[in-house]
Amino acid sequence: MTTGNFEKRILCIGAGYVGGPTMAMIAAKCPQYEVTIVDINEARIKAWQTDNLPIYEPGLLEVVKQARNKNLFFSTDIDNNIKKADIIFVSVNTPTKTYGEGEGKAADLQFWEKTARNILKVSESDKIIVEKSTLPVRTAHAMERILDANANGLKFEVISNPEFLAEGSAIQDMENPDRILIGSHETESGLKARQAIVDIYANWVPRERIITSNLWSAELSKLVANAFLAQRISSINSISALCEVTEANVAEVARAIGTDSRIGPKFLNASVGFGGSCFKKDILNLVYICEHYGLHEVARYWESVVSMNEYQEQRFVTNMIKVMFNTVAEKRIALFGFAFKANTGDTRESPAIHVTKNLIAECAQVAITDPKALDNAKLDLKDIAGNIEFTENVYEAAQGAHAIAILTEWDEYKTLDYEKIFQSMEKPAFIFDGRNILDHDRLYKIGFNVFTIGAPPRKHF
Ligand code: UDX
Ligand code: ADP
Repeated sequence: MTTGNFEKRILCIGAGYVGGPTMAMIAAKCPQYEVTIVDINEARIKAWQTDNLPIYEPGLLEVVKQARNKNLFFSTDIDNNIKKADIIFVSVNTPTKTYGEGEGKAADLQFWEKTARNILKVSESDKIIVEKSTLPVRTAHAMERILDANANGLKFEVISNPEFLAEGSAIQDMENPDRILIGSHETESGLKARQAIVDIYANWVPRERIITSNLWSAELSKLVANAFLAQRISSINSISALCEVTEANVAEVARAIGTDSRIGPKFLNASVGFGGSCFKKDILNLVYICEHYGLHEVARYWESVVSMNEYQEQRFVTNMIKVMFNTVAEKRIALFGFAFKANTGDTRESPAIHVTKNLIAECAQVAITDPKALDNAKLDLKDIAGNIEFTENVYEAAQGAHAIAILTEWDEYKTLDYEKIFQSMEKPAFIFDGRNILDHDRLYKIGFNVFTIGAPPRKHF
């Protein structure tokens, strides 16, 4: 199939947080392959062709520039690019269903199915189809049923190659991954397709870190990895609630348990709650599958990870209101950070959305600041009627505020001039550190009443 000077033509359908960075890295590492990314969203494709990329990810622009217009191309011509491709990665979005059967839990596969049908309609040669988006287990099976319905004898081999990159560190994660997982059917053609995908990653990933498995194990492993990671956060967050009412400090507890090599130190930062497009969605997918197979106890077990997260978000905002003398009406509250984590502009499932909505419902005036996420914040809150202000300037956000809540762990919030901020605020001044990143003793000495996650408050009254 391949023409021109390239060994292979790789296509990626969906130019979002997963497809964009992953394909840019593949193109940069494999100059012998032609890599094209297509999307139905014209504005997104245009932005990928400029230096103002549609997503913020540290180091991404450098990687894109290394390959763009050499062997990395962006296009909205989906059909022609499908025709030309040998390997098609699919990374279209798979949000949680907001309607019908499985509403609020199952993945909405309409974008995936449309893509599969489109591949089937326009293809003129055999292709390897790679699932890159997070999908419920056995999606490959459903896709195969669609793709096998072709009348012209073409062969489509479906591979699962789940993405483990985390936003904010995507480039590092892909440059030096813990593992790459490639699942396929264990038939002759399945193993051949699996090898073709292994060959791509083997250009820069040591072979022992490329794990292969059957198709269903690969699909399930993605959900389970995210469920385990989220479970750690919910576990430490549950303990943070206990610490706040006792003499314990959750950071000390996390350190003490994290040094046990069986537990390990990562993902034990108590916080206002986990966000992001994956954790909740993937757990709910897992819950849905368990229910489907009648494993209700297993479903309840994993569901509790999500309910603990909701409890943590709610606890944070309820506590803010309670300690501010049970009312925030007409009070200016500055939210430092709106992204779901630092080093990204992504706000999907960000705890900041929940906190803002609750404060607005209590008639507070909310001033939101974030170095990268204000555009997304505006979209998230566009239907909320209330007094909301957006500013990139943290000092302006804090000016005249009764309280500051740290909702994203941006480094720059650690080194602000908190004396100046304190002077500009109403008194008593409150600070709620939802990410435990600030020097709490110092803030207390400045005069703030300091509330953190997982430690007793430091207050002047
Ligand atoms: C996650 C997985 O880490 C990644 O492997 C997968 O491919 C996609 O989902 P991502 O959602 O981008 O990545 O970010 P992650 O670093 O996992 O953080 C998720 C949320 O958990 C963030 O809101 C973060 O602030 C929060 N978190 C993380 C904590 O509250 N405490 C921690 O200790 C770690
Ligand atoms: P993720 O975080 O999983 O990458 P995003 O929402 O950032 O999710 O990206 C998914 C991309 O897939 C979006 O840019 C969207 O426009 C694109 N997309 C959705 N359906 C199709 C389709 N049928 N064909 C091409 N692109 C699609």
